[in-house]
Amino acid sequence: MTSSPCVAVVGKGGVGKTTLAAFTLRRLLERSVKPLLAIDADPSSCLASVLGVDVGDTIGGIREDTRAAAKGIPEGIPKQQYLEMRVQQAVTEAAGFDFLSMGRPEGPGCYCFVNNVLREHLDRLTRSYRATVIDCEAGLEHLSRRTTQNVDAMILTADPTVKALETVRTVLEIAERLDSRVKRKLLVVNRVPPGAEDRVMEAVRRRLDLAAFEAVAMIPQDSAIFEAELAGQSLLEIETDIPSYRAYTQFLDGLTKSLV
Ligand SMILES: Nc1ncnc2c1ncn2[C@@H]1O[C@H](COP(=O)(O)OP(=O)(O)OP(=O)(O)O)[C@@H](O)[C@H]1O
Ligand SMILES: [Mg+2]
Repeated sequence: MTSSPCVAVVGKGGVGKTTLAAFTLRRLLERSVKPLLAIDADPSSCLASVLGVDVGDTIGGIREDTRAAAKGIPEGIPKQQYLEMRVQQAVTEAAGFDFLSMGRPEGPGCYCFVNNVLREHLDRLTRSYRATVIDCEAGLEHLSRRTTQNVDAMILTADPTVKALETVRTVLEIAERLDSRVKRKLLVVNRVPPGAEDRVMEAVRRRLDLAAFEAVAMIPQDSAIFEAELAGQSLLEIETDIPSYRAYTQFLDGLTKSLV
């Protein structure tokens, strides 16, 4: 494993990616893994609000500003240097970790130069952290376009629905094409109604070959998460002794090889 492992949470829309990304970050914070970087790679996501972070600039915004000709770039500064500076400024300092938002994906047009430079900077930036947690977008744009760096551990998330499990299968296929870039694959079935575990597991087995995963977890449907949402409370601040967080941390802590 690299010394700056990157953990990416992926899956269909609405299955709990942002929640699990926040839980992962919280567990790493509890274990004093630092410095830590959280990346919101979902343009419509709310990782920032779930973590209680105010977002500034996004990578998408920087990309647009820079691509829209030289107008956004102060005279006398090389484009590469300018981009690097903007990326550094876009990193928000939060309580115990740093935060970066990818923002909107690119529109039509050629972004190759800007994208290449940004990718290089992002790779360098993540290497300066002890670990990075990425909340990926449902469309897997970053994965398939390789704007996401190497993934050490991919948390493939599904809720107990056929569509979500099918998405996991598609992600596995994409990950396969990225070959060695995804090192570890973990399956998390989220929002499992208590008492339905066996039936859910049966449905999961019917749709997915569990041999593809290093480990499989089931996280219960938990009213504490709903209450936190309702109160607008950060998932970094809610009580930890709740069924979903207990189950998730037990899963992470029980991995033969620790995530970070
Ligand atoms: N185990 C759980 N128990 C109860 N509610 C949950 C659980 N996990 C997630 N939720 C709730 O389900 C909703 C979707 O979760 P979340 O936003 O984490 O999903 P997502 O995959 O990031 O969605 P999107 O694709 O829209 O970004 C949220 O309202 C969240 O609070
Ligand atoms: Mg989300």
